[in-house]
This record gives sequence, structure tokens and C-alpha cells, in this order.
Amino acid sequence: MDLINFKGMSGQQIEDIVDLGIKVKSKPEEYSNPLCEKSLALVFQKTSTRTRVAFEVAMTQLGGHALFIDWRTTNFTLADIYDESKYLSRNVECIMARVLKNSDLQKMALASQVPVINGCDEMYHPSQAIADLITIKETKGNLRGLKVVFVGIHNNVCNSLIEGCTKTGIKITTVTPILNENAQDQVLLENAKKTGLWKTSLDIHEEVKDTDFVYTDTWIDMEFFTDPKFAKEKENRIKIMKNYQINKELLKRNAPYIMHDMPIHRGYEISEDVIEHPRSIIYQQSENRLYSAKAILLTLIGQ
Ligand code: CP
Repeated sequence: MDLINFKGMSGQQIEDIVDLGIKVKSKPEEYSNPLCEKSLALVFQKTSTRTRVAFEVAMTQLGGHALFIDWRTTNFTLADIYDESKYLSRNVECIMARVLKNSDLQKMALASQVPVINGCDEMYHPSQAIADLITIKETKGNLRGLKVVFVGIHNNVCNSLIEGCTKTGIKITTVTPILNENAQDQVLLENAKKTGLWKTSLDIHEEVKDTDFVYTDTWIDMEFFTDPKFAKEKENRIKIMKNYQINKELLKRNAPYIMHDMPIHRGYEISEDVIEHPRSIIYQQSENRLYSAKAILLTLIGQ
């Protein structure tokens, strides 16, 4: 089994991973060595803090070993991704890859004889969504019937959050005036719509009024953040998105829990004073990347 996105997974399967993450967090002593002598290859074509740390520490704490592989220093740069992945999967028990294109991740999964985990491509970020659901469940005690409002750009994080929420019974409204062209997945959205749990709106104030959680993310994808070719688009996005900032004014009539998958761009998608607001669970959410990674690894390569 691979984890590219949540297609083909039931809500129960997703919630089982979430519950395992919560259990591993509360009883670490019961999970000290289940991945003994197993190796995880961490392939990064893009930058990362949390995803790398979470999966590397998860493997160590579960008794296994993780190898950080910087794409730029390997022969992935000059050979066929299929051949390199086919080789890699003969020496490790699992591959976690953060690549630019989902089509490349699909090639890796096709070539690999071991499970492949999506560490965030341009379309999906499933290990982030598992951490998000762990955080929601440990905060409220359940998932079904809750409401999440995602405010920002419709991107990879947004896609996986929609998929994760609608499959596990959470109502989600996306307030996303801009759609990342390369994150489009009509099938995912049609499936979400059929559940009756997903809708879009541009009325941020109305949506935040009765939500349990408000969630935001960067307005600029990581690979474009410092790219001079993206400067004009960045300026345009800031102009449109500044009315969709999570700030104290927005939270005046309701005090939902505040989520952000990080990295944070202070003063853009979220105001400085709200990051450590009493209702902010942002750092807890980022800590939960570790338990998400552990639960995913135990599900895919545990006994
Ligand atoms: N949220 C997230 O994926 O963080 P990194 O990009 O730092 O891995």
C-alpha cells in the first residue's frame, strides 16, 4: 500500500491511522522497537523542516533507521526516476518522497517494490492531513460533526484536508479566492461534494462565525517563495489575500481553534498576535507531524 493521497481509503481507514497516532503519542513505551532493522529513504526535491524531522525522528523512535537523501546530490538529477526508484526500493523497506510533481511520485510508486509515502507534492499533503486530524480529535474528542474553515489558497494542503475531513465526517468550508492551477483535482472535489460536507464560500466572516476550527496556510507555494520569476504573482496574491488574513478582528465574534500547517509567514496569512493566541493549536499541530509519521509508518510497514 502507498500513501499518495486518500483516494481508495475509507474514512474508517483514515481514522484508524489518526487513532493509532493518538495512541502512540500517549503510550510511546509500547512502540519502542516495532521497526527494528527497517530503513526508510527520505527523498527531498524541495525544502522541508517538519516533514523531514517528523519522519526521521519517527523511524529512530520506532527502532528503525532513516536516510535523508537530498535529490540534488543524487543521480535522480540525471537518470530516469523509474530506474532510480526501482533500485532504491531494493535496499529499503519504505520510501517517503517530497517531489515537485505528482506525476513523478506516481512513477516512483509504480517502480517501487515497497510502500511510497507522499511527503507533499503540488497536489496533496496526506501526512499533514493526518496530523491535522490527530490535532482536531485530541482537541475535541471526536471528528464527526465538527466544522473546519480553511482560509487561503486552494492548494495541496487544502486538497488533502478536504479529502481527510469529508471522509471522516467533518464539515469543511474552503474560503479560497485563488486556486493553484497545478493543484486541480476535479475527482477529489466531486467526491467531496457528494458527501454533502464540503462547500466553498468567500464570506470569511460568516463562515468563521460558527466554526470549531479555522485553518490557514501560506499564500505562496514553497518552491516559488523566493523565485524572482514569481515576484509579480506574489505581489498580486498579497493584494487579493490581505482581506483573508486570520487576525483578532476576524475572531471577534467567535473563538475557534486556530490551525496552520507551518511554515508561517507572519503578518501575511496570519497576524503576529494570533499565532500564540490562547485558542491557537498551531505548535501542537506541528508537533503532531511526528505522531502522524509514526502512525503512517506502522500502518504501512509495521507487523
Ligand atoms: N507543513 C510542512 O510540510 O512543513 P515542512 O514544509 O517544513 O515539511
